[in-house]
Amino acid sequence: MGQRVVRIAMNGVTGRMGYRQHLVRSILALREQGGLDLGDGETLWPEPVLVGRREYALRELAERHGLDADAVHTDLDAVLADPSVEIYFDAQVTSAREDALGRAIAAGKHIYTEKPTAVSAKAALALAAQAEEQGVRHGVVQDKIFLPGLRKLKRLLDGGFFGQVLSVRGEFGYWVFEGDWQEAQRPSWNYRAEDGGGIVVDMFPHWEYVLAELFGRVTSVQAHTATHIPRRVDEQGRTYDATADDAAYGIFELAGPHGPIVAQINSSWAVRVNRDELVEFQVDGTEGSAVAGLRSCRVQHRASTPKPVWNPDLPVGTSFREQWQEVPDNAEYDNGFKAQWGLFLRHVARGEPYHWDLRAGARGVQLAELGLRSAAEGRRLDVPELPR
Ligand SMILES: NC(=O)c1ccc[n+]([C@@H]2O[C@H](COP(=O)([O-])OP(=O)(O)OC[C@H]3O[C@@H](n4cnc5c(N)ncnc54)[C@H](O)[C@@H]3O)[C@@H](O)[C@H]2O)c1
Repeated sequence: MGQRVVRIAMNGVTGRMGYRQHLVRSILALREQGGLDLGDGETLWPEPVLVGRREYALRELAERHGLDADAVHTDLDAVLADPSVEIYFDAQVTSAREDALGRAIAAGKHIYTEKPTAVSAKAALALAAQAEEQGVRHGVVQDKIFLPGLRKLKRLLDGGFFGQVLSVRGEFGYWVFEGDWQEAQRPSWNYRAEDGGGIVVDMFPHWEYVLAELFGRVTSVQAHTATHIPRRVDEQGRTYDATADDAAYGIFELAGPHGPIVAQINSSWAVRVNRDELVEFQVDGTEGSAVAGLRSCRVQHRASTPKPVWNPDLPVGTSFREQWQEVPDNAEYDNGFKAQWGLFLRHVARGEPYHWDLRAGARGVQLAELGLRSAAEGRRLDVPELPR
């Protein structure tokens, strides 16, 4: 059998996600381990073709990582016209995605893309339909469910630990510096609605698949959004108006297997962290509860639940946190982005099932769109099931 080379056009690899998580931690990491073992004697060898606007930056990247200097391009259409390129990957700014994906699908490339897949549900669905019609394979990054903490949570759910799940509370966020006296740690377009920014557009697509895959389909959304920091300073030191939401307080109803579940998730770039991890989900069920973060997961069973009594006259004598038990790893967890890349490449090479596709991506865009509308109109909105 031997080795099969798969050439992947990677657009947006000079960015935060494109570089760190996708190029370095996924594709180059797969090469470092000798390629992706397909399990039948064949190994898939990913060959990145770097695409972008700034040739010098791409050349510098190629050189830094020992990649072929010829595999650097600034003309996307020329790369898409190259029949040796099988997959188009997109980690550009959100506003540039829809157009590039449409062109890549039309050129017959398989598609792997960051979320959100488009800025409107209509456009996201149209991309899914276009890919289905063209018969290409397609996948959307839905990395959070590959995180060790959430995989442990899934294991608890599969094992029936919770009994009936009643509610989910998620806290996500951290302080993103305004950019004046300390540099902002996120790109400035994130804070401009006209450039595809905003925390709802960024995070609701994640909450959609996390909630749907673990607990049940999201049936309604009620969101309140805020722009807590109205002016920020960009990469060039210029002050700009933050036109996008930097915090979203959302309530989601879910169709759980044993009845409705309520999920409440706060997302904010204007909050200081007093938690163990940057995202945490507390799940409460009739038989037990859990708190899952990026890596760890702690549980408290019904049988070991203390009985606190409200009495503000007495100091708290015990640490509530110490009454929880750590869930063991019991498995090796690879980087979540790399794990999902591996599954997508197997889908392309072997046709193995893969349900994190452009239609799944469209559901995330739909939830973001409805979340923003709910906030603007000040009311709860049903989330209709998207046509399959
Ligand atoms: N899966 C996740 O957890 C996750 C996390 C953060 C961001 N994202 C998504 O990844 C994408 C990239 O986000 P990022 O934080 O890496 O952004 P970034 O600003 O760091 O990178 C953006 C990339 O797009 C390129 N680009 C193309 N056209 C551009 C234009 N017109 N203006 C500016 N840059 C342009 C830039 O050169 C750069 O390579 C976004 O769609 C975002 O929603 C996903």
